[in-house]
Amino acid sequence: MKLIVAGSTGFVATEIIRQSLSNPSITSIVALGRKPAPTPVASTLLPNADLSKLKSVTLDNFDTTDYPDNVKSELANADACIWTIAITPSQLKSTPWETTVKVCRDYAVNGIKAISSLTEKKPFRFVYISGSNAVRDPAKKPLLLGDYCVLRGEAENQILEFAKNSGGKVEVAIAKPGIISGPTKETGALAKVFFGIIGIGKVRVGQIAGALVEGVTKGFEKETYENADLVRIGGKVAAAKE
Ligand SMILES: NC(=O)c1ccc[n+]([C@@H]2O[C@H](COP(=O)([O-])OP(=O)(O)OC[C@H]3O[C@@H](n4cnc5c(N)ncnc54)[C@H](OP(=O)(O)O)[C@@H]3O)[C@@H](O)[C@H]2O)c1
Repeated sequence: MKLIVAGSTGFVATEIIRQSLSNPSITSIVALGRKPAPTPVASTLLPNADLSKLKSVTLDNFDTTDYPDNVKSELANADACIWTIAITPSQLKSTPWETTVKVCRDYAVNGIKAISSLTEKKPFRFVYISGSNAVRDPAKKPLLLGDYCVLRGEAENQILEFAKNSGGKVEVAIAKPGIISGPTKETGALAKVFFGIIGIGKVRVGQIAGALVEGVTKGFEKETYENADLVRIGGKVAAAKE
């Protein structure tokens, strides 16, 4: 199968690509981003990694559903896409709010429309990585990062609505992780206590990547993957590999 990983320079995307390189069900990986994806470091590769499956594709402007022809041809006929492009909470202060809206919501909605229109595959599977505190009902706006959580929930709604109206062609899963940690990004002790107090879960980057790769290759277990689902499925996938 052909998998597109959008936001390919990012923390989660890098692990998704690393696991996909060794997954025999995935025969082609398109790493899509505004910058070229870094070449995977040999020492971090998993057994049987096949680098010849990986192609890096850059797109200057995600603010459209009409991608340039050269990008369209690289994205054509995909079976699935995992969308990781976002402004994360730590970047909110340095990013104008209008940019955050575009990147977190409009780019993803454009992406599902553009990429699904380029494939005959049915189902075409699309994952949008959101966050555990995102709310689909603005009336439930949380106190912490309220507008951001409502924005991410709006994106979830629009993506789910698009799939619902696709006549069964597009299947969507929304992933709602808590704090994601990994070898290159450990959560500090104080932050762990704080997130514990406010009830935000934790997931390892290997677990979220494993759960989402499993979903796009074998079919989604559910429409919404809460943090606990990502930990459970990701843990099962890792155990099966050992
Ligand atoms: N990390 C966490 O703890 C955590 C927790 C909960 C949810 N999440 C969600 O998980 C997803 C992935 O997070 P991550 O930690 O992997 O984020 P990340 O490392 O910051 O990666 C974000 C990706 O988005 C791209 N991007 C940002 N602004 C862009 C723009 N204007 N145009 C095109 N691409 C742009 C970045 O590209 P450049 O490299 O070119 O900037 C990068 O590839 C996000 O939806 C995030 O909200 C993360």
